[in-house]
Amino acid sequence: MSRPRVYLETFGCQMNELDSELVAGQLHALGYRFVDEPEGAQVILYNTCSVREHAEQKVWSRLGELAIRKQDDPVLVVGVLGCLAERDGVALVKRMPVVDVLCGPGELDKLPSLLDNAYRTRQSLLADRVTATDADRRSASQIALQGNSSRRSATLAAAQDSLEMLDLSRATSPLETMDEDHPSAGAVRKRSAYVRITRGCNKFCTYCVVPFTRGAEVHRPPEHIIDECKKLADAGVIEITLLGQTVNHYRFEHGAAVTIGGVVQPQKGRSYAGGHRRDPFAGLRVTTFADLLSRIHEEVPSIERLRFVTSYPRDFGDDVLEVIRDHPRICRYLHVPAQSGSDRILKLMNRGYTVSEYLEFIDRARGFLHEPAKGRPLSISGDIIVGFPTESEADFDATIGLIERVRYKNCFIFKYSPRPGTTAFDKLEDDVPDAIKRRWNNTALDVQSRISDELSRESLGRTLGVFVEGLSRMEEKKRERPAKSCGGGVSLTIGGKVIHSHAGEEDEDAGGLMAPVEALGEAVMGATTQLSGRSDGDHIVFFDVPSGASADELVGRIVPVTIERVQRLSLFGRLDGASAGRSKK
Ligand code: SAH
Ligand code: SF4
Ligand code: F3S
Repeated sequence: MSRPRVYLETFGCQMNELDSELVAGQLHALGYRFVDEPEGAQVILYNTCSVREHAEQKVWSRLGELAIRKQDDPVLVVGVLGCLAERDGVALVKRMPVVDVLCGPGELDKLPSLLDNAYRTRQSLLADRVTATDADRRSASQIALQGNSSRRSATLAAAQDSLEMLDLSRATSPLETMDEDHPSAGAVRKRSAYVRITRGCNKFCTYCVVPFTRGAEVHRPPEHIIDECKKLADAGVIEITLLGQTVNHYRFEHGAAVTIGGVVQPQKGRSYAGGHRRDPFAGLRVTTFADLLSRIHEEVPSIERLRFVTSYPRDFGDDVLEVIRDHPRICRYLHVPAQSGSDRILKLMNRGYTVSEYLEFIDRARGFLHEPAKGRPLSISGDIIVGFPTESEADFDATIGLIERVRYKNCFIFKYSPRPGTTAFDKLEDDVPDAIKRRWNNTALDVQSRISDELSRESLGRTLGVFVEGLSRMEEKKRERPAKSCGGGVSLTIGGKVIHSHAGEEDEDAGGLMAPVEALGEAVMGATTQLSGRSDGDHIVFFDVPSGASADELVGRIVPVTIERVQRLSLFGRLDGASAGRSKK
């Protein structure tokens, strides 16, 4: 087979971004070449999200366009990967016969063989000059899905296997360019990376597709996680974000570990009475989340920043808070979504905590970790869903009360979107009119916006360590280059908005608080170059490259920036030339 050109587009959350990176590494090793634009690609892959209807619609419209293109380009191979593939299953191929490959997030290890088959099939359909009907195309489709329950109910040995190998075989060559047609595109030293610690989710919040699309909660062996962090660090990474849907539930029981072919297998999550206090089994034959954090911190000292998303508000022990407090390179940042401020709604959502329990956690976390006098404030961000079935004005007011009480650094507000297959979809009518959802969304955003602005002001005059991710959006625009993630992918500049990589942020349903466009528009029209990056507390920080320094040598490093001006979530500061010169490469 010649070396097909692949265009891969990723939607959805960080989990998907990581999956795309792993898939791309695997395909690249097999000889596929990656291109920046769909035009001219022989294989087009969409790694999709299903968390809200709007996320799916974007993929449907892309597929509609490809159906037209494929009439002129019959050998084109189209693949739908990720959560939409898993949720919709073969119905997707029926609705969109343009799709040749369907691969759920739990089956990505099988993608190379599916693609290879699809590519050969397309070529032979053409060679035989068969006028393929839709039925032919469907029967030629290459499909790998978990199905409803396979990985949830299967034995450990059958379940983990090569999916774990996909993470283990991660390509970490630091300066590798994935794209030979555009050699500069990938040739940025990768300094920031995601590392998965837990797959899937066992919570079954009634609105959520993730337990169905990602399957059962499975914890990766700590040795695999630490080795991966070491490999990434050796390749130049200085910032790692650990990923899981409920990261604080991480727990690996060594006594129960299964080894296949010399490789310790990931382990199914199980509920345990962890409560809010120390895990009684910690330190024995169990690696808890607290143990994992402290081991990574101690065993991989060249990681300058360690963070994790997403935290579940329940079962978050003091042991984890102590570890964060006592380990300086763990960020004082928690993403811990409340979803609602009404106990009645939380119950209907099956979240498993009350508002007062949530607030108890927030107060406890601040008690341990909010130390502004030491220059280490705690930043908390959240997610809220408005317009859940039966939600009343009183429930919504309670949510506003919660936002005011918690004072999030930022909070993503989502309008409830009924998802087929979930309990809420089956049992609760989507009875809040869209106009009301919109109004609540806007109100919540306004409140959050004011709070973000107030909190940002507290940074005025402070000097923050900023991980420099790349040129600011306006700087990119000025240079008329497509937006790129220079730092390695934790945050991206997409579609005209600086976004924090998180489920739904580029989704119009998401009332996430973005860096306001007008804030980005100034300070860049002159001769200076504006860079952007993130503070330890996940604030977006903009600053100009000082004279005597170059943008290239600052990107991918952590530099001290003194904040001089703020606007909502955006902080604007100054880097002094001396420290720019001093910082090590
Ligand atoms: N595991 C994380 C959330 C992952 S999904 C947690 O439990 O906190 C990311 C966010 O999408 C959720 O926090 C929720 O706010 C939002 N979301 C999920 N399903 C949704 C739905 N059906 N409609 C609207 N928002 C939804
Ligand atoms: Fe979805 Fe709830 Fe799991 Fe988060 S914890 S992924 S919201 S089911
Ligand atoms: Fe899947 Fe992430 Fe979307 S888990 S549904 S891609 S938010």
